[in-house]
Amino acid sequence: MSTMDSIVENTLLPRKDFGEAWDAIKVEGSVKQRLLAQSVLSLQLRERYSFELMPVHGLIVLTGPPGTGKTTLARGLANQVAKALGSVRYIQLDPHALGSSSLGKSQKEVSKIFQQTIPEFAANEPTIVLLDEVETLAADRQKMSLDANPIDAHRATDAALAGIDLLCRTHRNTLLIATTNYPKAVDRALLSRADWIEDIGPPNAEARREIIHDVLGLLAKHWPQVGDLKKDIASFVTASDGMDGRRLRKAITAAGAISIEIAKDLNKLKADHVLATLKRAAAQADVQGDAA
Ligand SMILES: Nc1ncnc2c1ncn2[C@@H]1O[C@H](COP(=O)(O)OP(=O)(O)OP(=O)(O)O)[C@@H](O)[C@H]1O
Ligand SMILES: [Mg+2]
Repeated sequence: MSTMDSIVENTLLPRKDFGEAWDAIKVEGSVKQRLLAQSVLSLQLRERYSFELMPVHGLIVLTGPPGTGKTTLARGLANQVAKALGSVRYIQLDPHALGSSSLGKSQKEVSKIFQQTIPEFAANEPTIVLLDEVETLAADRQKMSLDANPIDAHRATDAALAGIDLLCRTHRNTLLIATTNYPKAVDRALLSRADWIEDIGPPNAEARREIIHDVLGLLAKHWPQVGDLKKDIASFVTASDGMDGRRLRKAITAAGAISIEIAKDLNKLKADHVLATLKRAAAQADVQGDAA
């Protein structure tokens, strides 16, 4: 396997679909503003000062439970930065593809990513790298048990940290955005390098209202009577308390599968169907939450 296999996306931004990602995620406006300002500031400072004077790593970390929009928001953020700067190269890394830790393989591949692959891109243009599910790349060395190749996994984390340190000194036009479900499984040395950590929680009532409004609006483009359900949004918002954004989007659409007749013609979808589906999904989310 080559390090190129771990690059799951490589494109120039801005791009329309990335812009849609930014708009799709409903979080408090201040969160989006902060993330964008932090990204732009970090690139500005790093362009003008050496790391020694201004120890800005150009690393932003998004933490939070599954399905809260971290990956989507990160992609959207890259697009907003590209719009602010003109254009940027965007690369998405899948740390899972960096090979197993057996035979020191992942250590070598991790080093290569930071010392060769990313610098090659960054030589030509500002580059934003998404390190999705970064707990795989920089697993907490303190929590490594003695059984599963701890030494090699240890070295992979060392290589990631050393790679990030070198990259942020030598390539001042890179920005790393990392996401994780398990901040506790991420090595503390990685988190300490972050210029900003944003904890993205499940959507609040206002965000849920926006998500539901969005989904109903999308369905109403093809089945206009779905639009009538917007008058019942308040009850949907209450019924979806505690659900993550992914589940909520799915649950609203899943209401259309309550019968074949409705699946064929969503104009027949009624508020009761949506409520019943939401309550069921919320109960399942509760059970999972308890188990976690
Ligand atoms: N706050 C939100 N507002 C609107 N939609 C959301 C929100 N959170 C999640 N979604 C929906 O869920 C989808 C999946 O989100 P995404 O994959 O970005 O979540 P994630 O936090 O990265 O999850 P995971 O931790 O499982 O990787 C998004 O494309 C979006 O449709
Ligand atoms: Mg994700």
